[in-house]
Amino acid sequence: MEMFRRTYADINIENLIHNWHQIKNVAGDDRFICPMVKANAYGHGDVQVSQALEREGALGLGVCLIEEGLLLRAAGIKADILVFRGFDKRGAEKILEYQLIPVVSTWEQIHSLESAADEPVKVHLKFNTGMNRIGFNSDQAEKLDEYFRKSEKLKLKAVLTHFACGEDSHLANGFSAQQTKEFIQITEFFKSRGVYSHLLNSGGIAGLAKARTMNTPDKNQHIVDRNWGFRPGLMLYGYQSADHFSEIDLKPVMSLKSVVNNIRSIKIGDSVSYGATWKATRPSQIAVVPIGYADGVHRLVSNKSHALFAGKKVPIVGRVCMDFLMLDVTDVVQGTETSRWIEEDVILFGYDEKDNFLSANEMASHTNTIVWETLTSVGERVPRHFKGLKKT
Ligand SMILES: Cc1ncc(COP(=O)(O)O)c(C=O)c1O
Repeated sequence: MEMFRRTYADINIENLIHNWHQIKNVAGDDRFICPMVKANAYGHGDVQVSQALEREGALGLGVCLIEEGLLLRAAGIKADILVFRGFDKRGAEKILEYQLIPVVSTWEQIHSLESAADEPVKVHLKFNTGMNRIGFNSDQAEKLDEYFRKSEKLKLKAVLTHFACGEDSHLANGFSAQQTKEFIQITEFFKSRGVYSHLLNSGGIAGLAKARTMNTPDKNQHIVDRNWGFRPGLMLYGYQSADHFSEIDLKPVMSLKSVVNNIRSIKIGDSVSYGATWKATRPSQIAVVPIGYADGVHRLVSNKSHALFAGKKVPIVGRVCMDFLMLDVTDVVQGTETSRWIEEDVILFGYDEKDNFLSANEMASHTNTIVWETLTSVGERVPRHFKGLKKT
């Protein structure tokens, strides 16, 4: 798309591939891995991310919506596509038509598939072990096993559950350990038939890597001993799911960038932006940047967060507007001709051209949220520029 405003998200596919190989190293050779590309690959561009991962050998990809799966099929993705959200009868028909893999979490979904299928269908079965969102409770495991043994059409390939507190997965007495123990009991019903099991999200994978380095009674042995399948999301995009995880080397994939539109010189006492919430306490140079909350820079960062400008962290001053935000760049531009800074790069998070880095975690913490939300909130009108994407 032609770009008249230089505000965009750089997507570094080489970093994505680096993260993918780091995850594969933790996995070893014979483990199921389903990279999560739902929600537009956490805002990074689901088609391009899926193409890159498929090229690097990913055999399965995870989406939430049937719509997301159809988009990937339309783009020529051949890998298995797991649809996690569930579906109704009409959804079951689409899943079959486009050869997506249903993650089933209710009896209604099972019946919809049975009645829509003409040929055998691969199914993954989701269990609730503590998240209390979707999935069968463990007391259904025996009945489900009997059902799938008899079903001519539905071929059970895997069972899965999802961690509520992946950040404690390395510990023997955490919530994840409790969920893992319950899940082990569920998997016992299906084991004899070669059905595999997956449960490790980014927290779980990082926890596994950490637990392997631990030699204390605190270690969650259940996570180390089994060949649990992986479903990495956040980690693929280069961020740790908790501060105490650092065993896996990750490189952030997205850099959210804009440029200086103009610079205003203001006097002591002058205010900036709506509500006049920031006032200059010295003669100041204010850079106006064409990116705002409609692009995913939440208004809550007003007067709190920073951006990278000429390799320095500079404060966002005044309220973030729908299409603009303002930076106090006085310390950087002092003594220079201000016109030379027009079109200078501004990095809201990620890397600048010289590899200076500002973490998306800063924006996340100033908006009282998590980095997952910061990445997925980057607006639709922000073009994604892909670096290192090979043609398929
Ligand atoms: C079922 C399921 N598996 C895996 C993931 C990936 O989680 P994360 O991004 O923490 O790795 C998600 C994300 O929410 C999910 O819903």
